[in-house]
Amino acid sequence: MKTYLILFGPPGVGKGTQGQILSKDLGIPFISSGDALREEINKKSDIAEKMCSFMNNGELVPDIVVEEFISKMLDQYPLDKGFVFDGFPRTIHQAEFLDSYLGRINVNLDAVISLLLPKEEIVKRISGRRTCERCKAVYNIYFNSFEDDAKCKKCGGNLVQREDDKEEVVIRRVEVYEEKTEPLIAYYKNKGLLIEVDALGTVEDVAKRIKEVLSDRA
Ligand code: AP5
Repeated sequence: MKTYLILFGPPGVGKGTQGQILSKDLGIPFISSGDALREEINKKSDIAEKMCSFMNNGELVPDIVVEEFISKMLDQYPLDKGFVFDGFPRTIHQAEFLDSYLGRINVNLDAVISLLLPKEEIVKRISGRRTCERCKAVYNIYFNSFEDDAKCKKCGGNLVQREDDKEEVVIRRVEVYEEKTEPLIAYYKNKGLLIEVDALGTVEDVAKRIKEVLSDRA
C-alpha cells in the first residue's frame, strides 16, 4: 500500500526516531530535512556555510534554500510506494511548496502525525541526545543504558552532542517552532490530515500508537 506521511512536532519530540521505525515497517523512504542539511554541511560547500550558521543559531534555513534543496532530493527518490517526512515542511510557504510539488506528481498526503509532549520531557530528550559521528545513529543518555565513554552499538563510532542541542540554541529552536511551524497545525487540520498522537512513553509505546491511528484511518 502507498503511504505518504509527515511527522510533525517540536524539536526533540521523537520525529526522527519514529520516522525510522515507520520507514522500516512500511518499506518507504525516510526523508529528514535536518539530516539532509547536516550531510550537506559536512560536504563544506559554499551553501553549506550559510546553512550552518542558521542551524547552529537555532534559526530556520530560508524557505527558498530549503525548498530547492528538498525538491532536488525528492527528484532522486522513488516515491511510488510513499514516504515519511521529518522536519519538512516547517512554514506555511514550505507546506504550499510541497502541495504543489506533490500535485505535479499526482500524490496526495495521507496523514500528518503531530507528536505531542510536555516541555520538560522535550528538554530531557534533547539534552540527553547523543548521535554517532560516523553512522548518525541516535541514542539518549537518560533512556538507553549508557557508559560515559560509550561508543555506537551499531558501528563503534564516537557519540557526540549536536551543536544545536546546546541549551541556549534549544530555547531559540522552540521559539522558532512556536512562531513559524505551529501555524501548520491549523493548515493541516483544515485539510483533514492532522492526527495527534501522545508521544509520552517508550519508543515502542509511541510506535504502537502511531500504528494504531494509521490502521484506524486506512
Ligand atoms: P532537525 O534536525 O529537523 O531538528 P528538530 O526538528 O529540531 O528535531 P530534532 O532532530 O531535534 O528531534 P526529533 O523530533 O527528530 O527527535 P529524535 O527522534 O531525535 O532540524 C535542525 C535544524 O535544521 C533546524 O533548527 C533548522 O535550522 C534546520 N532545518 C531543518 N529542516 C528545515 C526546514 N524544513 N526549513 C528550514 N530549516 C530547517 O529524539 C530526540 C531524543 O529523544 C533522542 O535522543 C532519542 O533517542 C530520544 N527519544 C525519542 N523518542 C523517545 C521516547 N519515546 N522515549 C525516550 N526517548 C526518546
